[in-house]
Amino acid sequence: MRCTLERARAEAQKLQSDKRFLHSCAVSAQARHLAECHHFERVEKAEVAGMLHDICRDVEESYLLQMQEDFGIILNNVEKRSPQLWHAIIGSAYVEHVMHEGDEDIINAIHFHTTARANMSRLEKIVYVADATSEDREYENVQFVRELADMSLEAAMMYLLKQTFDQLLYNFEPLHSDSIAAYNELTRN
Ligand SMILES: [Fe+2]
Ligand SMILES: [Fe+2]
Repeated sequence: MRCTLERARAEAQKLQSDKRFLHSCAVSAQARHLAECHHFERVEKAEVAGMLHDICRDVEESYLLQMQEDFGIILNNVEKRSPQLWHAIIGSAYVEHVMHEGDEDIINAIHFHTTARANMSRLEKIVYVADATSEDREYENVQFVRELADMSLEAAMMYLLKQTFDQLLYNFEPLHSDSIAAYNELTRN
């Protein structure tokens, strides 16, 4: 089954706070913009994935862990210690098993929107970069990253991954192996 943008929007509005829902709408719009910029023809697919990327972000931790068990998801050691990653991993399973989305590319784009990974599809890259460059984002250099993203998804990803690593290292937090693999792959190009 394929989820329409209308259904994705209704589901996001149902499960998210008003602020989060606005973020989802902004990421969806930015995913559409990046899809057009980089000639990704499945524009609505990019909008749907953007709308659903944080679908479980406001779900209580205890309920997320219940879903993790129900869906048979096994978290690795870094994931267990990083609750900020759970909404992506479990959110992708929610979209697959509860919303019955059958498009693997959309499911993967949701799953890897926080860590990234090596060999990402164009849709996965679009959602990863859209999440950090949407209109509602306000961090220092965001305008620079938006301009970078319009030119190259890969260049924007390298910049964003470095920014994430800097932050995690500063706080002595673990780095996810998928993020390292994504970064190493990007440095080879
Ligand atoms: Fe997220
Ligand atoms: Fe997000």
